[in-house]
Amino acid sequence: MKRLHLIILSSAFVAMVSCQSHKVESTIGSSPEVEARVERILSQMTLAEKIGQMNQVSAGGDVTNYAEALRKGQIGSILNEVDPEKINEYQRICIEESRLGIPLLVARDIIHGFHTIFPIPLGLAASFDPDLVEQGARTAALEGSAQGIRWTFSPMLDIARDPRWGRMAEGSGEDTFLDTKMAEAMVRGYQGASIDTTSMAACIKHFVGYGAAEGGRDYNSTNLTERQLRNIYLPPFEAAVKSGAMTLMTSFNDNDGVPSTGNIFIVKDILREEWGFDGLVVTDWNSMGEMINHGFGTDKKDVAKKALEAGVDMDMMTFGYLSHLEELVRNGSVKEAALDQAVRNILRVKIMLGLFEHPYVNAEAGKTVQYAPEHLETALKSAEESAILLKNDGILPLNEEGIRSILVTGPMADAPHDQLGTWAFDGQKEHTVTPLKALQERFPGKVTFIPALSSSRERKTRFDDVVAAARRADVVLAFLGEEAILSGEAHSLADLNLKGSQSELLEALKLAGKPVVATIMAGRPLTIERDLPNCDAILYSFHPGTMGGPALVNLITGDVNPSGKTPVTFLRTVGQVPLYYSHTMTGRPYNGETLLDDIPPEAGQTSLGNTSYYLDYGAYPLFPFGFGLSYTSFDYSRISLDKDVYDEGDCLEISLTLSNTGKYDGTEVVQVYVRDMVGSLTRPVKELKHFERVYLKAGESRDLRISIPVSELAFYGLDGIKKVEPGEFRIWVAGDSASGEPLSFTVE
Ligand code: NOJ
Repeated sequence: MKRLHLIILSSAFVAMVSCQSHKVESTIGSSPEVEARVERILSQMTLAEKIGQMNQVSAGGDVTNYAEALRKGQIGSILNEVDPEKINEYQRICIEESRLGIPLLVARDIIHGFHTIFPIPLGLAASFDPDLVEQGARTAALEGSAQGIRWTFSPMLDIARDPRWGRMAEGSGEDTFLDTKMAEAMVRGYQGASIDTTSMAACIKHFVGYGAAEGGRDYNSTNLTERQLRNIYLPPFEAAVKSGAMTLMTSFNDNDGVPSTGNIFIVKDILREEWGFDGLVVTDWNSMGEMINHGFGTDKKDVAKKALEAGVDMDMMTFGYLSHLEELVRNGSVKEAALDQAVRNILRVKIMLGLFEHPYVNAEAGKTVQYAPEHLETALKSAEESAILLKNDGILPLNEEGIRSILVTGPMADAPHDQLGTWAFDGQKEHTVTPLKALQERFPGKVTFIPALSSSRERKTRFDDVVAAARRADVVLAFLGEEAILSGEAHSLADLNLKGSQSELLEALKLAGKPVVATIMAGRPLTIERDLPNCDAILYSFHPGTMGGPALVNLITGDVNPSGKTPVTFLRTVGQVPLYYSHTMTGRPYNGETLLDDIPPEAGQTSLGNTSYYLDYGAYPLFPFGFGLSYTSFDYSRISLDKDVYDEGDCLEISLTLSNTGKYDGTEVVQVYVRDMVGSLTRPVKELKHFERVYLKAGESRDLRISIPVSELAFYGLDGIKKVEPGEFRIWVAGDSASGEPLSFTVE
């Protein structure tokens, strides 16, 4: 039944597509001149040379390892080479010694900065500042391209609603709208306003659904319906394609039984046909070969054929195309025209990046671009904006005048490598400024450092030294969390509490009777409910990168007022997974009924509420999506809509007054959420539709106008067609996803 239903749905989508999309324009900005050049090169290529372009290999050590293959035109792209001298030499061999002189596309996972490391993408999302994120991606492109890297495997657009999944660190969190805005910003930043020699081609990944891995276990299967794909997981990719993303990577997972690298429906039908994508599609590392492990193909020849049929252009590290395509073409199993299309997509990117004209870099000059002062400045600002103040009993900002001694403790206080986070291969720890270093500079002679735990995982039962030192100090700054290695690819966790004896350390410090400020650096939202009572303030910093130390010190001292907001729901306990703000509503919504501790032993079954919640943990998170405190307070007033009834072509014009009612200047992230009250499908209880950062001086008020096209309320409904369904809606304007009073409006 289910299958039939989806087939019907698919044909509805196809019908919609056929009357909508005639591919007239290149999504990556190609031109007739570029196309003519592509055809000229293609017409000169032998079958073997075409297959060579479709092969991507990982660089290993000596250039001579690949010299012969490059000469023969057997490699189209190399990843993981960062030495500009070697890159130049690879390019020289391709240009001067291969028959057609086609340059190499050199790729690297530059995920949140190349040398200058920015906060991990989850942290960048917490800034709710796409302009700054774009600037960060531009910085990464300047550093990467200066050393010959013209292709980055970023941004990762996987929506992630399960913090056990280690790769939540690499994306923008749980929300489709926030992810979309970050996707557009990063594509613009990497590629630049127009493509030139400082552009790195963006690679949007992982297509698609990878973040919905069952159980949060990396690489695991996903079972997303077509509707979930269309309404939740695909929009960031579609927006990135529209923003001109030049390349895309297929994901490792099988969704509903079909591994992405062989998934005709998502790659060919949706990406290529519906969206008209004419960029380059690359597999993930050996994801072609892994289709054999999935049980989706018999051998490399079989999976190479399946990947090509799905519309995948380049094979990363399976060598399936290199070893088998020639035979598959010769025996008629695949058409050479299919290869031609793949090669076109690859050549187009190389031409557009200007690699034929500028294959080499000036290695010496390139070195001076790394860690440029303005890059460090952008990294500092990014780390400041991405930290989230989760709790503050009034200890922050520190009253510096009254402080003579500070105890700094915890395994993350001086962990230069770990504060860089996952995927920071090229960030050097010598350039990283830790909180300890920044504090010692800021408070000379006043800082005592006792790590107490050598790593986040160390177990200890006694903390005598550090507690004694805490008694002597005016304030305790504890830097806790998880090392870089505990998040990222293949680093999923089943337990999300602070590891080792970190919670016990906080408990012991609390007993010393001095104010405790905890700063948590992590790759995911940890479950810190137990720790809240043991600190007077909590600053949460998703691994903040090179300039994390000074950024955190600027926040702690109040030089900068925290403005980050949670890009993902913070859970009370891991058993609540998945818990995200934009869920649909059950037939029995939770209304705060009795929890386990309040239930008398004699209670019968019917006295337990009969709604959707956990007896032991209720139904609410620790901190909702979009939440973050400031040293000041903001008041929302006079919120109104310009009309009660709208047409689909209208814009919702929202007016409000935002006031800074506290003592500090500060920035508020104003958020707008909408609920479609009744639909052909059950609809999310809230969906983010707009956000903006607003800076106000202490005591200042400002009238704001926000305009949201009614068309933004469209979704793929029961009939599989994207449209706005008429009816009643509610709208909230607030500082997080759980606040505010709704207004109503109707769409006719
Ligand atoms: C595997 C990862 O899944 C992907 O994100 C990355 O870009 C490639 N390896 C290349 O390193």
